[in-house]
Amino acid sequence: MNLVFIGKQGVGKGTYAQKLSAEHGLPQISTGELLREEIKTGSDLGKKVEEIINRGELVSDELVAEMLKSRLSLDDAQKGFILDGFPRTVNQAKALDALLEKSGKKIQAVLNFVAPDSVLLERLTGRRTCKKCGTIYHTKNMPPKKEGICDKCGSELYQRDDDKEQAIKKRWQAYEEQTKPVLEYYRKQGKLEEIDASKEVSEIYPKIGEALSKRGLLG
Ligand code: AP5
Repeated sequence: MNLVFIGKQGVGKGTYAQKLSAEHGLPQISTGELLREEIKTGSDLGKKVEEIINRGELVSDELVAEMLKSRLSLDDAQKGFILDGFPRTVNQAKALDALLEKSGKKIQAVLNFVAPDSVLLERLTGRRTCKKCGTIYHTKNMPPKKEGICDKCGSELYQRDDDKEQAIKKRWQAYEEQTKPVLEYYRKQGKLEEIDASKEVSEIYPKIGEALSKRGLLG
């Protein structure tokens, strides 16, 4: 299964991708996480990326596509993957198709998660992420057993710098202008599935299974 999870910031792409990844052994590839890893190294590139992310803007297509290319070449991605947060522009979608075509692969389904802005804002402001393993929590909706500590690896949780209201608005604007056209790109290819993500994870997750089964991707 080569899947793309798409949707406005805060809709829960990472949360559902982590669950599907754990259940089916497919790697969840988040370009946001790859960029945050680069920031952690303290490199010059990381410093530039950090400024862009904190302003709520998108990083250049060339940089993200290059990063994704090397991530997709790793062994664990050869039997399938879940792309979380890529592609976000039509140029990225075209670059992805061209890259996969070289190895005789293609994207089989694109799941578009949808929920109202008021729900997304509440999710983003309460989000906490593990510093080490990247597991996603929410202070109210999905709290860890021990406050501020990851259930899985015991590391500290943190609040992302781009989860501040001003950056959130900028990110949503980038979504409207640059990412929405990607939906049309995949709709024309007949790959788009829309999932109502306004409810609890326990209600949303089975819908992912249904959408994939309908396309013959899950038994
Ligand atoms: P990235 O890390 O991908 O962030 P994002 O796109 O802004 O998406 P989010 O992580 O905010 O939302 P999500 O939908 O994954 O929600 P989550 O599962 O965490 O990218 C960060 C930045 O990197 C970008 O702004 C850009 O600058 C750059 N970048 C990345 N990719 C790029 C690309 N391809 N091109 C250019 N630049 C790129 O859930 C949110 C919260 O809600 C959590 O707390 C969760 O616990 C909770 N929650 C989730 N689902 C539910 C539910 N159903 N009910 C209740 N709570 C829920």
